[in-house]
Amino acid sequence: MRVLTDPVAMRNWRRARGGSVGFVPTMGYLHEGHLSLVRRSLAENDATVVSIFVNPTQFGPDEDYARYPRDEVRDLALLKEAGVAAVYMPSAAAMYPPGHQTAVVVRYITQTLEGAARPGHFEGVATVVAKLFNAVEADRAYFGRKDAQQLRVIQRMVRDLDMPVEVVPCDIVREPDGLAMSSRNVYLTSEERAAAPVIHRALLGTLKRFTAGERDADTLRQFAASQIDHEPLAQIEYVSLADNETLEEIDDIIEAPALLSVVVRFGNTRLLDNVELG
Ligand code: PAJ
Repeated sequence: MRVLTDPVAMRNWRRARGGSVGFVPTMGYLHEGHLSLVRRSLAENDATVVSIFVNPTQFGPDEDYARYPRDEVRDLALLKEAGVAAVYMPSAAAMYPPGHQTAVVVRYITQTLEGAARPGHFEGVATVVAKLFNAVEADRAYFGRKDAQQLRVIQRMVRDLDMPVEVVPCDIVREPDGLAMSSRNVYLTSEERAAAPVIHRALLGTLKRFTAGERDADTLRQFAASQIDHEPLAQIEYVSLADNETLEEIDDIIEAPALLSVVVRFGNTRLLDNVELG
């Protein structure tokens, strides 16, 4: 397994390699969610490249960039064992040389939900993913549905800028008790960790009401919120029921498939989760 640390070395490796390449961008501290994307890429391409880069520009000034969990030794061992051909692990200096000033702005779908809660976040994400795509020149790129808005932002960017890569959405991987896997789950205290599955239970309960015929958006949002509110350690940041494609909030009645997404805080830890209705 090759480890490449700057964009020129990465691109030279890819061009020499030939064949189809699948790409899984990550910020490391890998878990089964990341590895499910890696396995899908391994199955669908001649070679797989995984990037590990904790991208400073997608974190706000009061966010967890400095303490974001990192374990490169373990990550590299997991990727080698999985059969990954190359890992792209650029330094921040290689990604953002002095004087850099260009960014990718996806205008509208970035305004709601995580974009509203984290100003500048999706500009950082879109820019770094565009840069990673330019270095890796992959045929397919794998993204988790866990970060539903991020997935849609990347799909929009690829379409709008004619990027020659196929974006492949991948299902959410969960712990046995339903908690969506996330590198940030390590921040939870044992009490918070024990309480966190309330999020998935609330989403499933709401899905059940939808399946049983409930179509009023506010009723469904309120039902999800009330389920989460039963848990004293849980602090709801938002409960959204939005159009599955545009991510605009649904006013009254759900028709098209919709995305029910939530952010719930346990202490200082923000947990994201979602489920598609219909
Ligand atoms: P990171 O949070 O490390 O996630 C990397 C990829 O793994 C994303 O596509 C994310 O949706 C997916 N993923 C995370 N948890 C998952 C789970 N439980 N099930 C399925 N997929 C899961 O997302 C990022 O990094 C960054 O924003 C990045 C795209 C790398 C740009 O910096």
